[in-house]
Amino acid sequence: MAETMKGLVRTCRCAELTTDDIGKTVTVMGWVQKNRNKGGLCFTDLRDRSGILQIIFEEAQIGAEGFERAGKLRSEFVIAVTGEVVHRSGEVNKNLKTGEIEVIAKDLRVLSESETPPFPIEENSKTKDELRLKHRYLDLRRPDIQKNLILRSKVCMEVRNCLTEEGFLEIETPMLTKSTPEGARDYLVPSRVHPGSFYALPQSPQIFKQLLMCSGYDRYFQIARCFRDEDLRADRQPEFTQIDMELSVVDVDDVISVNEKLLKRVFAMVGVDVELPIRRITWQDAMDNYGSDKPDLRFDMKLIDVTEVVKGCGFGVFTGAIEAGGSVRGLCAKGQGAMPRKKIDKLVDFAKDFGAKGLAYLCINEDGTYKSSFAKFMTEEEIDALVKAMGGEAGDLLVFAADKNKVVWDVLGNLRLELARQMEIIDQSKFEFCWVTEFPLLEFNDELGRYQAMHHPFTMPFEEDIPLLDTDPGKVRAQAYDIVLNGTELGGGSIRIHRDDIQEKMFDALGFTKESAYEQFGFLLDAFKYGVPPHAGLAYGLDRMIMLMVGADSIRDVIAFPKVKDASCLMTEAPGPVAAAQLAELGLELVKQDE
Ligand code: AMO
Ligand code: AMP
Repeated sequence: MAETMKGLVRTCRCAELTTDDIGKTVTVMGWVQKNRNKGGLCFTDLRDRSGILQIIFEEAQIGAEGFERAGKLRSEFVIAVTGEVVHRSGEVNKNLKTGEIEVIAKDLRVLSESETPPFPIEENSKTKDELRLKHRYLDLRRPDIQKNLILRSKVCMEVRNCLTEEGFLEIETPMLTKSTPEGARDYLVPSRVHPGSFYALPQSPQIFKQLLMCSGYDRYFQIARCFRDEDLRADRQPEFTQIDMELSVVDVDDVISVNEKLLKRVFAMVGVDVELPIRRITWQDAMDNYGSDKPDLRFDMKLIDVTEVVKGCGFGVFTGAIEAGGSVRGLCAKGQGAMPRKKIDKLVDFAKDFGAKGLAYLCINEDGTYKSSFAKFMTEEEIDALVKAMGGEAGDLLVFAADKNKVVWDVLGNLRLELARQMEIIDQSKFEFCWVTEFPLLEFNDELGRYQAMHHPFTMPFEEDIPLLDTDPGKVRAQAYDIVLNGTELGGGSIRIHRDDIQEKMFDALGFTKESAYEQFGFLLDAFKYGVPPHAGLAYGLDRMIMLMVGADSIRDVIAFPKVKDASCLMTEAPGPVAAAQLAELGLELVKQDE
């Protein structure tokens, strides 16, 4: 039968004990990892969040009744043991922090019994995700997940310490609010008091943090929950956490400088020395060289623009794309020239998934001859010039995409990553940071037939580009910056617009009327009438940061209770239906939706 604490006091956690404690009497409490009954002795591995400790139950020490109870211990029972710390009698276990010691039990209390868990509680679990997430409370007992969440807690503390030292104040902003402009769909919350009206959960604290600058708080931060109803991926969750900040009277260099200090301190916690200053790459260079605004700099293999080289050549696919205003670019995969046809076909399919109409390839055989999908359309001189421009050598594989720039970048950017994975040239121990700067302010949305803010509508354009807002909006650069690590966008931010004439121009370019801008952001625009300092900010995805720090494949591994791909929680089964009475109270009625 399970017992209560009855005044028993834990003296320390299991794996906090060391050889220095030998001879001490201690009381430890935790879960039974495993229990082996070997005749006159019971060996029990006791686990808590600090790690594992071996307990020895011996009849001579604990008495016949105690020994009998020890023999009945099963996995995941919660027990309290009082005993003496001794040197290990058996072989030292080098894999355990406590591998040189054990505790000889003098007293045992069973605090809770356990049914057989649906899967073993162990590191690197092979158990299917669905089962683990359904019983997340058990999954969270696994040491690897515990390690992640412990680090997460420590990182939050370090962030708080660092930003507080830098003069930031931690201020909370509302969860029940109006739509915030980050471009995803909102999660809505119906109001009971105002039937037919809804709150939106914040996609970020963006507007509120700008208001805090307006109100004189000078430097704000928050470890803030954000909600975005968008398609989930390995690095996205519908609710996630930002390390969010805003600073008054600063420029880009000031924001970057504070954040480089922060990154240095945080990554030092996992033994990564972030070299400062972190390199800066303009958006244009990132796209031209890596086909991505979040380049993975752990390997080279840059995109090469061969538009000028193939202009006027005999291959219609290339010249057609150029004539339509596009470009031809390629990648040189070193030593991949002998890639079998089937594998190349897979690369072509991969490229098509990213919108390519095809993928032209050229293998340079070891004897200098070519095997190619398009060489027949070009003269020998044209091919030689192309190979030279690509830096191609015997044994290399060259692949080319011809299309609008946007398509070519996307196709080759993704192909670059895929080839690197196949070639195993990504050094997993590297942490390659970069700032991506000078983003375009606006991007044209073909579906909507108008420009959209690439970041959000409050991002300041480059001052010298402001006249272009009227003439060539696509060319305007934003004073925005992203921090990228190993091909993942860790965070991003910008200098904000604090002048109403520029904000008006921006709303114009985005197709807002004065009325619609006021309807959505009126309180911000009003606030800016009463003296607002220039300000700027940035937000990190905390989950992504921890994921990269611990080398996890998914942000689910660093979130206590995550959601799965369809945005549901397998454990609570949220979202779920609600009672008719609850709907009635909210003035809501469900309509049948077509499947
Ligand atoms: P942004 O939209 O770029 O900027 O978000 C900042 C960072 O938050 C993380 N992130 C996510 N992480 C997990 N799941 C998601 N669904 C998700 N969406 C975003 C990313 C991203 O870099 N208000 C601005 C910041 C600013 O301008 O100060 C903002 O929210 O790591
Ligand atoms: P085709 O003449 O259509 O058979 O194409 C010859 C080669 O060019 C094939 O390898 C195609 O995959 C490739 N190709 C077709 N369209 C493109 C394109 N837009 N960019 C690059 N290669 C292409």
